[in-house]
Amino acid sequence: WQLIIPRSKTDPPLVFHWIPFVGSAIEYGNDPMKFFISSQAKYGNVFTFILLGRKVTVCLGPKGNNFVLGGKSTVLNAEDAYTHLTTPVFGRDVVYDVPNEVFMEQKKFVKVGLSTDNFRAYVGMIEQEVEEFLANDPSFSIYQQNDINPWGKFESVKVLSEITILTASRTLQGSEVRDSITTNFAQTYTDLDGGFTPINFMFPNLPLESYRKRDRAQKKMSDFYVEFIKKRRAGGGSGQHDMIAALINQKYRSGKSLRDHEIAHIMIALLMAGQHTSSATGSWALLHLADREDVAEALYQEQVKHFGINGQPGKFRPLTYEDLRDLPVLDSVIRETLRVHPPIHSIMRAVRDDVPIPPTLATPSSKSGSGTYIVRKGHVVLASPLFAQMDPKIWKNASEWEPTRWNDPEGVAMSALKEYTDENGEKIDFGFGAVSKGTDSPYQPFGAGRHRCIGEQFAYLQLGTILSTLVRKLEFKIPTGVPAHNYHTMITMPKTPRDIHYRRRHFD
Ligand code: HEM
Repeated sequence: WQLIIPRSKTDPPLVFHWIPFVGSAIEYGNDPMKFFISSQAKYGNVFTFILLGRKVTVCLGPKGNNFVLGGKSTVLNAEDAYTHLTTPVFGRDVVYDVPNEVFMEQKKFVKVGLSTDNFRAYVGMIEQEVEEFLANDPSFSIYQQNDINPWGKFESVKVLSEITILTASRTLQGSEVRDSITTNFAQTYTDLDGGFTPINFMFPNLPLESYRKRDRAQKKMSDFYVEFIKKRRAGGGSGQHDMIAALINQKYRSGKSLRDHEIAHIMIALLMAGQHTSSATGSWALLHLADREDVAEALYQEQVKHFGINGQPGKFRPLTYEDLRDLPVLDSVIRETLRVHPPIHSIMRAVRDDVPIPPTLATPSSKSGSGTYIVRKGHVVLASPLFAQMDPKIWKNASEWEPTRWNDPEGVAMSALKEYTDENGEKIDFGFGAVSKGTDSPYQPFGAGRHRCIGEQFAYLQLGTILSTLVRKLEFKIPTGVPAHNYHTMITMPKTPRDIHYRRRHFD
């Protein structure tokens, strides 16, 4: 049937598929990385595939990322690509339900809440939450017995999800959320989260019970936040180090304050944006630490060096925000985990106007035409941080989780990057050392450009404190090895089984 679709010479190559409408949905959905690699081998860095009736043009490599993430939002647009997924979950009048200029103002408001002052207050709170979790959660019953010898096990994603939501609610979300998290809030959150799946992304409106549950949960969650925003306003709302306290005081350029439901919906958006991304990253990091005793030991020794108390085994002074910023092993464990397992493997933009592909990214071969490829209005363009981060032309031993690459100025990542030459023979200097945050960087777990993540520092702080607290107290192993990726969820998760074995740390 592909032979009968009228195709222009300027259309990027179309990935071959057998079933109309479905197109390459199964290959892409099962393993996007494998799909990108095999399609790149056949068609080059730019190709179009059919995803359940949509035409998606993939632009691979740092230049592809640059094209998609550096594009003007009037042409390559995020709200058109995502709003059908996010608005029913977050609610109206925020994020992708408003014009981009309004959302950019909202992002600035959130940045006020992500202040250094707030971060200073959060580290101790997170440490305390993790310690309480270890002391009370049934997953750590063996730890709670106080005996150092037996090994127990826990389900990595379950434990990290719980720790992530507890620590995010204790800090950013505020005391009201933390206090209700073990009661009615938890079920509402689960129902809302059930609306954040690839099915919801592909089919915005299906007459399914899960969609109705999602809508009911959104309303309930929104009412819940609005109620305590009102209470905060009535009580003066100051003295808190959380996001609501920051948002209550913000004003749009027009002079208008944020309305209660807008604050509520921003809070829901932040909860959803941080929850799976951070819990997946924490799970992957722990799975690798369990697999690499040498790295876990280096991480532990870093804690002893910075926080140990007079050589007393197992005794540490509390973590602080300033300390966390200066722990190279911890930093490299998180950085490398995000390279190999970026939670968001594909970033999409809807095309609002016909747009030419820059010739430095791809050009039609002489056989299929000449000039420039054009991506048509109504299509979607896709950049993949995962692909560039795992590209063996860019990274030495690309598929290996090797945190040391980030610590050695002459190390593997650097030398590989220095040698990097793209397919046109052009040498590329990524300005490594400090990892480039540009739209053409080969390292973009937090995206790039105007839609770049604003939660990066919070995520490092949260993950850094969680990992430090766990590694101070526990040893890990994973007899089954690090699991493969499960790409069937919105955020890339480890496949089951994903149990980590643990025991109390020995100090002999
Ligand atoms: C945007 C990743 C944690 C809030 C993004 C984007 C990525 C990303 C890739 C860009 C999406 C796009 O361009 O379409 C991550 C990862 C995280 C993380 C890997 C943790 C390891 C967080 C946290 C928060 C947050 C904790 C909130 C506190 C946001 C917001 C945006 C964003 C508000 C902006 C969306 C836009 O401008 O369109 N994140 N994120 N993220 N993230 Fe994160």
